[in-house]
Amino acid sequence: MWKFANPVRHQIPETRWPTEAEAGRSLLFQPVSVGPLMLSSRTWVPAMVPWRATEDGFVTPANLDWYRRFAKGRPGALVVEATGVRDIPSGPLLRIGHDRFIPGLRQLVDAVRESSNGETKLLIQIIDFLAMRRRPEREKYFERFLQVTNYHRTRLSELTNDSRWNEAAETEIRGFLQDGSDELVGQVLNERELESLHFGYRERVTDTELSHIRELPQVLPGIFADAAMRAREAGFDGVELHYAHAYTMASFLSARNTRTDGYGGTRENRVRLPIEVYRAVRERVGNDYTVGVRFLADEVIAGGSRIDDATYFGVAFARAGMDFLSISKGGKFEDAQQPRVAQAVYPYTGQSGYECMPTTLSDEIGPFSRTVPLVAQIKRGVNNAGFSTPIVATGGISTFSQAEGILQRGDADIVGFARQALADPDWFLKVKVGRGNEVRRCTYTNYCEALDQAHKQVTCKLWDRIELDEPGMAVAEDGRRRLIPPEWKR
Ligand SMILES: Cc1cc2nc3c(=O)[nH]c(=O)nc-3n(C[C@H](O)[C@H](O)[C@H](O)COP(=O)(O)O)c2cc1C
Ligand code: SF4
Repeated sequence: MWKFANPVRHQIPETRWPTEAEAGRSLLFQPVSVGPLMLSSRTWVPAMVPWRATEDGFVTPANLDWYRRFAKGRPGALVVEATGVRDIPSGPLLRIGHDRFIPGLRQLVDAVRESSNGETKLLIQIIDFLAMRRRPEREKYFERFLQVTNYHRTRLSELTNDSRWNEAAETEIRGFLQDGSDELVGQVLNERELESLHFGYRERVTDTELSHIRELPQVLPGIFADAAMRAREAGFDGVELHYAHAYTMASFLSARNTRTDGYGGTRENRVRLPIEVYRAVRERVGNDYTVGVRFLADEVIAGGSRIDDATYFGVAFARAGMDFLSISKGGKFEDAQQPRVAQAVYPYTGQSGYECMPTTLSDEIGPFSRTVPLVAQIKRGVNNAGFSTPIVATGGISTFSQAEGILQRGDADIVGFARQALADPDWFLKVKVGRGNEVRRCTYTNYCEALDQAHKQVTCKLWDRIELDEPGMAVAEDGRRRLIPPEWKR
């Protein structure tokens, strides 16, 4: 895990919870409209992948239990995990790339409706990602994956002062490199090849020499539009376009997107495809359906987009007609740590990953409400441009006073609680009825995130070993962890 050079350990802030009457008068528990939807409160559970879908991307009973449990706490909105828009294998992540996924997703919608008595509105985050492979064994890389070209032959000839390499058999070159020192390999392979060797092969939106990457702007609007329509058919109250973190659409927005086909370079060009995708979605689902976006306030990588880019994008999204803007930060591949052999690179292991899910081992600012100043800046930009699109702030928010302060100051319109909702999905209900002192407080040490990184079923350390003998309770594949939090015994 990435750490600050001189980390400061922060404590979970002491807090005073409101009485029921105070909560009733608060902004946090007032309704808010999000496009055509009315949320009963300004609370929001952002997308969190729990690793519970089938290998083919279908909804499982464990998914139903998971979302049912969140809905029981009655947040204003609950966003279903990043769900793939394409009909391609992607491991146990939910998918919405074909009509065969609709019945399972409909069950999920029904489970949430029933569990919250219709109060919690359910959105689904829809995502596209590019191909990536696990870090290969060195032997395999040189035997199979490296494409030997004249470039390698020339480099070898130069470095060894031996022109024989220009004619050498491919197997000889492979063998020589495989046995060669890191220094030699570093001088023969190009930057991308070295990355494939050390991190695993990963496509980028700038790989326009590949036809399927070149054609993304032609293909993606239709794919997203179809997925959004399926979400509507399954009964979701809205869709969130995933334009954040390490994935395709975020990469189009990135300042590191240097495409020269009108979809990279300037901000206007980088936002073009994201807007075209939105328009295609809007056209398909109609104006009476909630469509919003999650994007980054700052990519937190060298050469990446910063807050000025984010404010520009926020205004562009609001102008295009998006119904909400949910703001995240970081979570990129570019600064991720090297994975172990046979593991995939995980975009939350560098500084940008820290900023996405900040922990209590922090700098002097600490993890709490860390992204709010940037969210407030985006909100000012959007409002000054004449739009009142609701804006969701997330990141290290766990107390009522933090959340209410954000709303009272006008820094955001809705407050997102991801890990705090995982620690205690009843936060919303407990605080609303004046029993905030019963909230199980998230400690922000990222045990849950480590499970996500290992592609294990996500649980929380505060409850996954409690009452393990409860009758009928589902446990994780390792047999040692319960999959959903215990009930709130009121
Ligand atoms: C286990 C886990 C899975 C996550 N999956 C997603 C996801 O699918 N999509 C997304 O936009 N963010 C995802 N996030 C990020 C959260 O939505 C949120 O932005 C982040 O945890 C910071 O908010 P918090 O401090 O309230 O937890 C995930 C976070 C965790 C802990
Ligand atoms: S595992 Fe840790 S960081 Fe994750 S929700 Fe639980 S207490 Fe919070």
